Amino acid sequence: MSAYFEERKSVEVVNGRIGADVPERLADVMRSLVEHLHAFVKDVELTEEEWAVAIGFLTATGQICSEERQEYILLSDVLGVSMLVDAIQNRKPAGATPSTVFGPFHVEGAPERAMGSDISLDGKGERCLFEGRVLDLEGNPIEGALVDVWSDNAEGFYDVQQPDIQPKWNNRGVFRTGTDGRYWFYGIKPVSYPIPDDGPVGKMLRQIGRHPYRPAHTHFRVMANGYKPLITHTFVAGDAYISNDTVFGVKSELIVDFVQETAGERRGEWTAQYDFVLA
Ligand code: BEZ
Ligand code: FE
Repeated sequence: MSAYFEERKSVEVVNGRIGADVPERLADVMRSLVEHLHAFVKDVELTEEEWAVAIGFLTATGQICSEERQEYILLSDVLGVSMLVDAIQNRKPAGATPSTVFGPFHVEGAPERAMGSDISLDGKGERCLFEGRVLDLEGNPIEGALVDVWSDNAEGFYDVQQPDIQPKWNNRGVFRTGTDGRYWFYGIKPVSYPIPDDGPVGKMLRQIGRHPYRPAHTHFRVMANGYKPLITHTFVAGDAYISNDTVFGVKSELIVDFVQETAGERRGEWTAQYDFVLA
């Protein structure tokens, strides 16, 4: 076969240059990438002007990235790629709690708090009791599981987005289950919020007629020795964005009915009950 470039043979010509000693997985991934990229360009018959717009977009996406901001992860999230990788890599047996997107706002090293503590340190929002158990697939309680939780505040921002406004570790904490596998802590009923949309990804969403909102959710990472770590959220049933999360993170098993207390000491407060089942 001629090694010169031709439209008809574009994939073979480019992939034919991959070296003989390249690790098999890398060669497979690159071959598939070239195949699908060329198919895309051929499918839409991309113009030079459109290609220049795409290069400009990718350049701007890189330029806005910093230690605090990862615009490429946002891009992957809004294109459904993060959820697709998660779905492929975290196939779960029936009965196990499904995972969802990690998101950019987890911080390693949150303080371990006593069971029953309040993680809302800024005094804003509607108080909510989060409670439930960490269980194995047979329904047995898991002792010593770490429940790492993080949430936006009542105004829709994570502490790391407002380091000069919110107390450090606001709406974050780690809880360790006892022999009964139970966890319980106070926080706030979360609110829906837009993902950061002042960069190229936000502009792209507006251009294609999409909103940047996520339905109200609380993030959890549940870990226990001998079990697969679980990265997930619980979502507030009835949220206006529950069926059109901009990052496609909602799964029906993760939607929780938040119940408002109508009497007693906790009148007006909310309760969110949820059991996590680890594989
Ligand atoms: C989040 O839920 O924290 C999140 C997930 C994906 C993109 C932006 C934010
Ligand atoms: Fe979030």
